Amino acid sequence: MSEPLRVVVLVSGSGTNLQALLDAASDPSYPVSVVAVGADRDAIEGLARAERAGIPTFVHRVPDFETREAWDEALTASVSSFEPDLVVSAGFMKLVGDAFLSRYAGRFLNTHPALSPSFPGMHGPADALAYGVKVSGCTLFVVDSGVDTGPIVAQAAVPVLDGDSAESLHERIKTSERAMLVEAVGRIAREGFSVDGRVVRFGR
Ligand code: GRF
Repeated sequence: MSEPLRVVVLVSGSGTNLQALLDAASDPSYPVSVVAVGADRDAIEGLARAERAGIPTFVHRVPDFETREAWDEALTASVSSFEPDLVVSAGFMKLVGDAFLSRYAGRFLNTHPALSPSFPGMHGPADALAYGVKVSGCTLFVVDSGVDTGPIVAQAAVPVLDGDSAESLHERIKTSERAMLVEAVGRIAREGFSVDGRVVRFGR
């Protein structure tokens, strides 16, 4: 069997998407290895999940750097030291800069809790709810220099229910998001993928 896909995951919070990848990767038939987990803050459950799984972690806090560029370069260097094939931002609440984007162009994915191109930004579930949509969902995309604008790898639709709060909708979305992420990263590992303009296709 060929080597598993080496993945670095970036987190900022609870890390349930990371956990879904870790759980999937504990099955040898899932051809992915989470080789490190990075964060922009300390003492978060996402880092604890990595530590419990025996996976190396690193933290770079923006306020510890003189400039945002210096933070971006430190992040890029730490990620690169693990020689990933793919980097997955799973609830990482920071926009990376030019150094990171150019190093990982086409190999940096992010998951967003809305159906792109609707409701980009930090408050996808709340914005969808306020707009009154009846269907929302999640989007896995190849990160570009915009905010949640990159070419779409996978999406899943989720109903908005009467009485939903932003939190209840987000939790429903996250259930689908975890499954979408595991499935898509598994396909990337098995089949590869390519980006042609805005269109992403699995396969080599
Ligand atoms: C996910 O819904 C992600 O799309 C959003 O934040 C959430 C992170 O959840 N940006 P978790 O940390 O993986 O539990």
